[in-house]
Amino acid sequence: MESRRAAPVRHEWQERRRNEARVSKADIIVGIQWGDEGKGRIVDLYAQDYDVVARFGGGDNAGHQIKVGDTDIALRIVPSGVLNPSVELFIGGGTVVSLSGLLDELERLGKIGVDVSRVKISDRAHVVFPYHAAADRANERARGGDAIGTTGRGIGPAYTDKVARTGITFADLRDADGLAAKVRRNLDSRRALLAAEELPFPDEIVRSASEAAARLAPHVVDGVGYMHDALESGRRVLIEGAQGSLLDVGYGTYPFVTSSHTIAGGACTGLGLGPTAIGRVVGVVKAYCTRVGAGPFPSELLDQQGERLRVAGGEFGTVTGRPRRCGWFDAVAGRYAVRLNGLSALAITKLDVLSGLDRIGIVTGYSVDGSRVGFAQAANPRLRVEIEEMDGWSEPISHVRRVADLPKAAQRYVARIEELLATPVELVSVGRERSELAR
Ligand code: GDP
Ligand code: IMO
Ligand code: MG
Repeated sequence: MESRRAAPVRHEWQERRRNEARVSKADIIVGIQWGDEGKGRIVDLYAQDYDVVARFGGGDNAGHQIKVGDTDIALRIVPSGVLNPSVELFIGGGTVVSLSGLLDELERLGKIGVDVSRVKISDRAHVVFPYHAAADRANERARGGDAIGTTGRGIGPAYTDKVARTGITFADLRDADGLAAKVRRNLDSRRALLAAEELPFPDEIVRSASEAAARLAPHVVDGVGYMHDALESGRRVLIEGAQGSLLDVGYGTYPFVTSSHTIAGGACTGLGLGPTAIGRVVGVVKAYCTRVGAGPFPSELLDQQGERLRVAGGEFGTVTGRPRRCGWFDAVAGRYAVRLNGLSALAITKLDVLSGLDRIGIVTGYSVDGSRVGFAQAANPRLRVEIEEMDGWSEPISHVRRVADLPKAAQRYVARIEELLATPVELVSVGRERSELAR
């Protein structure tokens, strides 16, 4: 007798599970110090193996310098994969974007032959208006001696509006009447703060935003749909952090931080991804430390040695031109950042800058009143740092392509960072040019 078996019921979730096998995971690259670790240079390199490079936070407070052959570019908001012609570039919903800044950047890139139609912007990204930059300046002045030393780009005020639910998104730019009303409301609410600031008339702000919005409209996409469609169709996505972990608004050296979450977790909220969508997390770490602006910097060198690092490393801000404060590599801060980001591996940059130093310091411990403390105490005025000294090396290393071919002292230095941060080093950058790296 023939047995009659019921056709198996196919639940939607089972179908989704089956599909999950084809969904790719996004990898993340973040800076693990105070920014300017060389993330742009490292993202440019990794991007060769990806289809999409996505920015998740910050705005044009970021400045990335990338050199590939004769092309030497400065990027602010366009993701650093841009010099890889087959990569699509996505500016995620967690960012804050100046319309004129983005248009200028696209124009600049277009002039050197870059196809900028590959740049997509999430409809969830927030717009930075001229009144945000003015408010940034006014806030800094009001802080007097406690000024943060911001980049003056209006980043803090733009995120303030976002959290206050008065921000204006790229989606809002589609409604011209609504836009005018929102701009007026945001100007009105800041009337006292902006009284002494030079600003265009409200009508002019709205007019130029509408004009810019029309030019940018072809780039604006449903950001959540874009990201998930990319992953679900198996495209390889690289997520690019801006700033550095120690500038994170929640876990950095608050209040001397930026106004966004710069750590790897920010990639999920900044792009609308769940934690299960993430694969590897690579931390970019400069072979020494720098910081622009005010705030705690336990390993800072205020002497000739700091000046030497500044000159040899070209440590002047790409956004503001300010000299960067310089100091030894700080392993206490490094271990803290490894935890914050759940790092899979490290990429060390600017090792070549240390060539020619007799001795190189590494901060290996913090103490207060004789007791060991962690990075949480970085701002304590009684903080003392423990410095371990290592032998330096004299020869230039920018031509070296294998870590095993680096001078022995340089190999020991890399191995010590790896050991102190308990994280494998997967590449060492030894120069600005794309090819200048050792694996
Ligand atoms: P980002 O903001 O993290 O992308 O870093 P920036 O671009 O602001 O600052 C890093 C600077 O160091 C840039 O001028 C890079 O071209 C440069 N740079 C990156 N890696 C190296 C390296 O390995 N050696 C040297 N000498 N310069 C590097
Ligand atoms: P990239 O991506 C270094 C610093 C500013 C200031 C603080 C707050 O190039 O590494 P903000 O304008 O964000 O309100 O300033 O954060 N800062 C950076 N420092 N690199 C950056 O970006 C930075 N972005 C912000 O100097 O101390
Ligand atoms: Mg930078």
